[in-house]
Amino acid sequence: MARKKVSIHDLYSKKAEGEKVSWLTCYDYPTAQFQEAAGIEMILVGDSMGMCVYGYSSTVPVTMDQCIVHCEAVRRGAPTAFVIGDMPFMSYQESDQVAVANAGRFLKAASVDAIKLEGGLRTASRIRAIVDAGIVVSGHIGLTPQSSGQLGGHKAQGRTAESAELVIRDALAIQEAGAQLLLLEAVPPELSSYITKKLSIPVYGIGAGPDTDGQLLIVSDMVGQFQAFTPKFVKKYCNVAEVYIEAFKTYIREVKEKRFPEDEHCYHIIKGQEESFVEMLKKFQ
Ligand code: KIV
Repeated sequence: MARKKVSIHDLYSKKAEGEKVSWLTCYDYPTAQFQEAAGIEMILVGDSMGMCVYGYSSTVPVTMDQCIVHCEAVRRGAPTAFVIGDMPFMSYQESDQVAVANAGRFLKAASVDAIKLEGGLRTASRIRAIVDAGIVVSGHIGLTPQSSGQLGGHKAQGRTAESAELVIRDALAIQEAGAQLLLLEAVPPELSSYITKKLSIPVYGIGAGPDTDGQLLIVSDMVGQFQAFTPKFVKKYCNVAEVYIEAFKTYIREVKEKRFPEDEHCYHIIKGQEESFVEMLKKFQ
């Protein structure tokens, strides 16, 4: 029986009941189908697509148009998961109006369930404006890849008392602004544990230890597809790169050795047409 669509209410019930939520990124239709079949509860169509799909060196070049196209494909592949569209760099920084317009595009074009944007205190007014437009928002603080230049690179945050205080203030500001979900990236477990208990909204983590209300991983990391680097918090559940490369090598070898295609891969002349076919060929002799 098909699963009932995962709603924001389900996510709140799971927090109340202490049931951990599983969350993965996804960028394409077939992978979304696989995640849906496996029963994943939440999907982020992350701007990490910039690095995982497009081969950019950061998420910064990703555009709204790219995010929308990938969200549409994922939504088609995962009709019952809670799908979140990730707002790319400069789709919300300029003004509240620009932020609301771009957040609305995700819902209109791709029927996402929520949008996510990076930043704490400084994005509070954007969050408030998007929430006032009736859209579910997930905050994202700690390591925020779009502003990794300001953070001095892709570095864990909140590892000193001073820095941890800033993360807590950001978390409180996000909840206060009306966000209904929060993602903590690359912060100590002691800090994420405190924030998860302190906030009434569901708090999820990527590289934030075991005590958050659920876990997010980047699909390309956990299946061993993204090759450039592997963050400390990643667990590889399989290695599709090995499977792909082995398949490609075997194909190349079989083509060279004339072992592919075999008879079973061929479309033969329809039975009864063989003689007419031979006669027809004579026209060209
Ligand atoms: O784009 C993304 O996948 C993200 C994660 C790094 C949290 O925002």
